[in-house]
Amino acid sequence: MASGVVPRTGQFVPNEPAFFIGENSMDDERIADDLNRLNELRVQAIAVIDQAEDGEALETARVRFTGKKSEINKALAGMARLQPEDRRSLGAAVNTAKGEIERVLAAKSAEIHRLELDRRLESELVDVTLPGVPVRRGYTNPLLAGVRELLEILTKLGFAVYEGPDVEWDSYNFTMLNIPRDHPSRDLQDTFYVSDDVVLRTQTSPAQIRIMQQRRPPLRVAVPGFVYRNEAEDASHGDRFYQIEGLAVDTDITLADLKGTLTQVAQRFFGSDRPVRFRPHYFPFTEPSAEYDIQCAVCQGAGCRSCGNEGWLELGGAGMVHPRVLENVGYDPEKLSGFAFGIGPDRYTMSKYGITDLRLFRENDLRFLRQFS
Ligand code: PHE
Repeated sequence: MASGVVPRTGQFVPNEPAFFIGENSMDDERIADDLNRLNELRVQAIAVIDQAEDGEALETARVRFTGKKSEINKALAGMARLQPEDRRSLGAAVNTAKGEIERVLAAKSAEIHRLELDRRLESELVDVTLPGVPVRRGYTNPLLAGVRELLEILTKLGFAVYEGPDVEWDSYNFTMLNIPRDHPSRDLQDTFYVSDDVVLRTQTSPAQIRIMQQRRPPLRVAVPGFVYRNEAEDASHGDRFYQIEGLAVDTDITLADLKGTLTQVAQRFFGSDRPVRFRPHYFPFTEPSAEYDIQCAVCQGAGCRSCGNEGWLELGGAGMVHPRVLENVGYDPEKLSGFAFGIGPDRYTMSKYGITDLRLFRENDLRFLRQFS
């Protein structure tokens, strides 16, 4: 007559005696037996529930003692067939026992929930005193930083920033700039030709032509960008390097404006105590033309190893826009004048930081870049 409880995996559950409830004849003895059995079951259930250590064990106990196939539920189902007076006494006892088991289950469930939460919090505990993993920072290439600083200075002096194409018409790069066909800088040795009449610009000066053709004076424009020359690479030469072109055109621009502007740019970049000097030079598209230098910071003009004994470091070329260039873009040289300059940001940056090899700018060696964070 004993009905077995199916054991759960890995768990041995002995057969439990079943209730008599639901059998056809109930006498006082059987009712007393059932009440005893009910009490045993209640005590056993509470003990098993109490021992459950996790949600899974508790769920097993819940199914076993209050689930559909549990002894108590079977007893409740058998109630219908009892005499009314038996039903009253037994029914109340079964319901009380069931209610108590359910309360114990709920309390245990809450406890296990708390425990599991504690366990989880402990395992996920973050020690805020541990040192973090350092995040690797990127570094700005000093040449780019130099270009940005120079453009900022120029912007503050009233120059608008403009860009021209790297792939340029031969006529813009040369002819319009008054560079005749037989000029040495047109030599195939120096210029990368894309086709007969298209080149990689060898200077940013063709942007002068583009701007003057597009806009009317007064003009004050700065044009940053790469330029390309077919040259062997060494510490001070590259086949691609940076330039910033400057151009100002108005009715009364003089050489003094040019000198003042370039001196301002250099001294804002290097420091106001660094002398700037101008030397006569020749460019086909400026007249007069000059090259300008910054005094060597190491020897203060006396000459040392870092300036090649010159005492000065060359920064770029400049001059008053040649009347023929003004004519080429339809400007009247009788009414308008202008100055133009080429800034070599590579040189500015090298002199500022004592960098002796141009190639460092292009290698992106972190040991080098890291110094300019
Ligand atoms: N374009 C010249 C060069 O590359 C520099 C320059 C620019 C000179 C503007 C005069 C005026 O050497």
